[in-house]
Amino acid sequence: MFLFYLFLIIKTVYSTTTSPSSESSFVYDNQTIGLKKGDGETCMSVTFQVKILNEQNNNSVPIDFHLPSGLIKGKCAPDRKSEAKISSTIEESDGRTKTLKFVFRTEEMRVKRVDELRWQLNKVIYVEKFAGSSAVFESDNSSVIFSAPLTQKYVCEDRINVTLHSENFDFPILVMFSPEIDVQPYGPKSNFYLCERTRKRTLSESLQNRSTVFCGVVLALSSIAHIVGHMLRRHFMPHRKELYENLDRLPAIN
Ligand SMILES: *[C@@H]1O[C@H](CO)[C@@H](O)[C@H](O)[C@H]1NC(C)=O
Ligand SMILES: *[C@@H]1O[C@H](CO)[C@@H](O)[C@H](O)[C@H]1NC(C)=O
Ligand SMILES: *[C@@H]1O[C@H](CO)[C@@H](O)[C@H](O)[C@H]1NC(C)=O
Ligand SMILES: *[C@@H]1O[C@H](CO)[C@@H](O)[C@H](O)[C@H]1NC(C)=O
Ligand SMILES: *[C@@H]1O[C@H](CO)[C@@H](O)[C@H](O)[C@H]1NC(C)=O
Repeated sequence: MFLFYLFLIIKTVYSTTTSPSSESSFVYDNQTIGLKKGDGETCMSVTFQVKILNEQNNNSVPIDFHLPSGLIKGKCAPDRKSEAKISSTIEESDGRTKTLKFVFRTEEMRVKRVDELRWQLNKVIYVEKFAGSSAVFESDNSSVIFSAPLTQKYVCEDRINVTLHSENFDFPILVMFSPEIDVQPYGPKSNFYLCERTRKRTLSESLQNRSTVFCGVVLALSSIAHIVGHMLRRHFMPHRKELYENLDRLPAIN
């Protein structure tokens, strides 16, 4: 009995001391960042290429923000209704730090007359710190950048721009996402949800491909008809048939 209590005490102490920091970050394939729980299970996985365009002075040259190169921090949602977040902080050689942070949440939504719990990428935050001062740019509170049913990951093969604003600066900055986009903020899931734009594009592509296949079939059929017609003609026109056969029998000229 005493041993049992001892076990309980040790277990409680162990879990209270380890649970707050039990999530560890990982980088996979130099393109995916994510978080793992203490038991090794992936609870968050994010893949996308990001560029940042500071639109001050009509600047049009975006800068790469390579998420896997930064220090990855974050927090998985302890339950279905909580927030999850992940960020990457890159330190430049001049001491400037740049952080890009993504905040996810879930929301009950009515889809086709059924209430469905969906996750959303609801906030993108960019913070730049230098010599004790900092600039913060945020996406609008109402924006839903990526969204999918809770049990699915979001996959997109198209580019997406998000505009961030600051209270202290009168110009916006643009966060430009480009493929491969693959986001799974609420645990490992096998299903995936294709973004609307990619879905429409692949649908129209496959329709186009189907019409070329269809044309191919029509061509093939018509050439078969041609061959059959040719054979029939040879068959029903003995005179010509003879001519052909004689042609076949002609000795080689040289
Ligand atoms: C990862 O990718 C970045 C950007 O494409 C590149 O600069 C870096 O060298 C790569 N790192 C490794 C370890 O491959
Ligand atoms: C930026 O472009 C706009 C419209 O093209 C122009 O009115 C404005 O003067 C430009 N600003 C700068 C700082 O070049
Ligand atoms: C966005 O939400 C935050 C916190 O919920 C609030 O402090 C801020 O004022 C909101 N911003 C806007 C523009 O509504
Ligand atoms: C994103 O913004 C860039 C720079 O303004 C622009 O060239 C590009 O077409 C935009 N892409 C989309 C998908 O809106
Ligand atoms: C359609 O054909 C194009 C090239 O002809 C190819 O790149 C594309 O992947 C095809 N799309 C589908 C959905 O098969």
